[in-house]
Amino acid sequence: MRSTIEQPLFVLGLGGVGRALVRQIVAARARHAARNRLHLRVIGLADSRSAAIDLRGFDDQTLLSFVSRKEQGLPLASEQPAWRISDLPERTILVDTSASEATVPVLLEAKARGLGVVLANKLPLAGPLAWWDALADTHTRWETTCGAALPVICTLTTLLDSGDDVLRIEGALSGTLGFLAAQLEAGAPFGAAVREAKARGYTEPDPRQDLNGLDTARKALILARMLGYRLELRDVAVESLYPAEMDALSVEAFLREVDALDAPMRARASALTADGRTLRYAAEIADGRVRVGLVGVSRESKLGRVHTSDSVVVFHTRYFSDNPLTVSGRGAGQEVTASGVLGDIVDLARALC
Ligand SMILES: NC(=O)c1ccc[n+]([C@@H]2O[C@H](COP(=O)([O-])OP(=O)(O)OC[C@H]3O[C@@H](n4cnc5c(N)ncnc54)[C@H](OP(=O)(O)O)[C@@H]3O)[C@@H](O)[C@H]2O)c1
Repeated sequence: MRSTIEQPLFVLGLGGVGRALVRQIVAARARHAARNRLHLRVIGLADSRSAAIDLRGFDDQTLLSFVSRKEQGLPLASEQPAWRISDLPERTILVDTSASEATVPVLLEAKARGLGVVLANKLPLAGPLAWWDALADTHTRWETTCGAALPVICTLTTLLDSGDDVLRIEGALSGTLGFLAAQLEAGAPFGAAVREAKARGYTEPDPRQDLNGLDTARKALILARMLGYRLELRDVAVESLYPAEMDALSVEAFLREVDALDAPMRARASALTADGRTLRYAAEIADGRVRVGLVGVSRESKLGRVHTSDSVVVFHTRYFSDNPLTVSGRGAGQEVTASGVLGDIVDLARALC
């Protein structure tokens, strides 16, 4: 009988996704043993300020106590043990559930040593092309960077590995901007819609981080790079939903002054929906270019039919031409994202055996 695979893991980032991941690893022990003969041995965890390391693997009670400390707003550990990639066992998988570019040096070192990497953090893959080239290899998984646990990356990978040709990708990749587009289309003033989205917890603490479109641009750039487009983020044509001058304002001042955008945004929405079309904030990846912004789409199209708070990615290919291949559903949320990260870890652990 096949023996149990002991898979060492090092988790960077214990925010909402990282904590949910650790809980899900513990909860899935019996399932992983029965289905995959796999034991995920968490040998290290780090947040922005501290780290905890035990190369024998932490027991589940200790893992859950780290989660509990973080939930109480405490640092992961009171000490800051020095650790280096060279200390980690062969076949270790580094899991990046941070939201920072500060992890990139460690990720690059891990790659240079041939270790596995799983990313929920899209910043390293949407950074300079040199990072992409070093990170995006067969021992890296990044399913959750474009639509939480939706099978977007694995679908594209399968298409690229098949005899098909991917001609164009369209996607609505932000539930927050989907909500705002729906509000605008329904006639709500833009400023009120932004404040409503913030009050409902749909936006980042600074809503401009959603409104600038860069999150969607980064997701689209990752898909474009998978297609072989040699683009940097600055090459993506991004429509921001506020003018650059408003970057100088505090969050409070921005939320007061955003009503000044009501009239221009109403005009833009009306123009795009004039002939019965519906409003989306979408990405289009085709012919070597990436564009991200507001569009009016047919209500019968794949983009037009999806619920605005969901994500959708539409693959137009040589074989999927009349009825393009579509992946849609909930594209955000800490628990569902953690489940996608866990799926990536198991998949990569199998590949590393
Ligand atoms: N939430 C979603 O729906 C969703 C969906 C898809 C993908 N993602 C991605 O998943 C990632 C995590 O999201 P989240 O909601 O959990 O974010 P979060 O709550 O902001 O947590 C980020 C975590 O990263 C840690 N961190 C920052 N710098 C670090 C460093 N240099 N080394 C190690 N850890 C570091 C932070 O440490 P401190 O605790 O010390 O601050 C924090 O624990 C993000 O990249 C996000 O884009 C999220």
